Amino acid sequence: MEFFLEELEKELIGQRIPNEPVSIYDPVRYTLALGGKRIRPVLCSLACGMSGGDISLAKDAAIAVEMLHNFTLIHDDIMDNADTRRGKPSVFKKWDSNTAILSGDVLFTLALEQLAFYQTKQFDSHVYPSLMNEFLKATRIVCDGQARDMEFESRFDVTLDEYLLMISQKTARLLSCSLKMGGLIGGGSPEQIQALYQIGFLAGIAFQIQDDLLDAFGDPSKFGKIVGGDIREGKKTFLSISALGKASPNQNERIRTVLDKKSASDEEIEEILSIFKSLNIHISTLDTVNEYYNSAMKELEIFPDSPYKTSLIKFLDQLNTRIF
Ligand code: IPE
Ligand code: IPE
Ligand code: MG
Ligand code: MG
Ligand code: MG
Repeated sequence: MEFFLEELEKELIGQRIPNEPVSIYDPVRYTLALGGKRIRPVLCSLACGMSGGDISLAKDAAIAVEMLHNFTLIHDDIMDNADTRRGKPSVFKKWDSNTAILSGDVLFTLALEQLAFYQTKQFDSHVYPSLMNEFLKATRIVCDGQARDMEFESRFDVTLDEYLLMISQKTARLLSCSLKMGGLIGGGSPEQIQALYQIGFLAGIAFQIQDDLLDAFGDPSKFGKIVGGDIREGKKTFLSISALGKASPNQNERIRTVLDKKSASDEEIEEILSIFKSLNIHISTLDTVNEYYNSAMKELEIFPDSPYKTSLIKFLDQLNTRIF
């Protein structure tokens, strides 16, 4: 697995990215070289191994899903007006929005090109179309989720179910896609592929709720993004929706006012965070995260024991306690 990740890093920032024009490829290289947790490529390769395949064959799909993810981040930071990503200036801040739009677009195209590897003769002829179908569908669903995320900014009646649908689209769908593609490359059974998809769905929900939690209560020096950003942008997160449901009329009024401002001061953000705390939102959020990760673990039962399955269990455990 370590070797796989080393290879992946090399290829992500290696020769596959052209040098010129610099205004489009420098931001691409910058983003890919900033690291990140590489969750999606790890899921893709472990899923391939768990389905009985050779994980080295999952490398191109792993690169493709990481590129797709990085494309969504570059555009997401414009949409969320987020200055910092992975502890460094976001692309649209370091360059400008036009540059970020085009670099994101080209990264998506590079991801598609990467999948051409599965057209070679060593794969059954159904592999490439199935991968492409999954990849394109997931991309569209992520866009749908991002649209809901933006629509929710101006609403205060967003229900928990609506929120769960939104995060299942903007975040979980790409985790499902990563796992399912690994399963397809590994030659998994339909039942295994379905379970992989479901693991991505459940772990993805947990992952995004955690992201919301870290955005509010994370350690700024570790999280790599600006803490409090969701409150400043008026995002409907697991925390703000739960809090609106539990708050007193006075607290409710304060949460709405600050979220609606789009330019809350540090003091106002602190005030909202202390309302969240007084309502024990941080505790109930963690419980929910745990529940979703545990449900994801249960889906693993149908897979025969293997080093890959053991690694995935460990990986999900590590994610469950992540602080960045
Ligand atoms: C950030 O994803 C976007 C979300 C879905 C919350 P990650 O937390 O996986 O970002 P990196 O790749 O590790 O930076
Ligand atoms: C992430 O949502 C979803 C996508 C990037 C598609 P967020 O907006 O919460 O992600 P971060 O917090 O900026 O990484
Ligand atoms: Mg966003
Ligand atoms: Mg964002
Ligand atoms: Mg976030």
